[in-house]
Amino acid sequence: MAPPHEPPTEPPREPPTQPPSNPETDEPEVDLPPAETPVRHHVSHHGISTALRVNGVNHGLMLDPRATLLDTLRESLHLTGTKKGCDHGQCGACTVHVDGRRVNACLVLAVTLHGKDVTTIEGLGSAESLHPLQAAFVEHDGYQCGYCTAGQIMSAAALMHEPCGDSDGEVRELMSGNICRCGAYANIVAAIQDVRGKG
Ligand code: FES
Ligand code: FES
Repeated sequence: MAPPHEPPTEPPREPPTQPPSNPETDEPEVDLPPAETPVRHHVSHHGISTALRVNGVNHGLMLDPRATLLDTLRESLHLTGTKKGCDHGQCGACTVHVDGRRVNACLVLAVTLHGKDVTTIEGLGSAESLHPLQAAFVEHDGYQCGYCTAGQIMSAAALMHEPCGDSDGEVRELMSGNICRCGAYANIVAAIQDVRGKG
């Protein structure tokens, strides 16, 4: 006769270890580095040392080679004026200037820009001193929700130095990489033409 089936035995469990808690707050104490330890953002131990000049300020960064310029601006440098829309080069919300030319920051790896000059919407103007395009967008109601607006203005600022005919249609063509889900296109073109003196 077969011996009665024995239930499998489990090894005794260790009680879970928890970090000591702060008796005043009852929060777990976290092992933070000392206050004087410099905090770096977007640091990777396998990072690549990259120098970027952003809005006239030099930055030395240790970057993950996979980091886009868009994520570097927003997450490492906390310049959140540049927006992430599609993250696939299709909406233009992330438009910035690199050495004076417009690029989709979501399509560029930041480490490839070592030594380059980057301008974002924060570097174009300020609340106290608006760039003429920023003032024109306000005057012409060139936005509704505003999510696309930084990219629209950065594209428009670059367009000012590109070969572009006088007509609204040619402006629309050169601005076609910037999508506005609110449909503020007519007012955006009016703002740009005003600054160009073509309105
Ligand atoms: S977020 Fe870069 S093009 Fe849309
Ligand atoms: S103003 Fe809303 S997406 Fe353009």
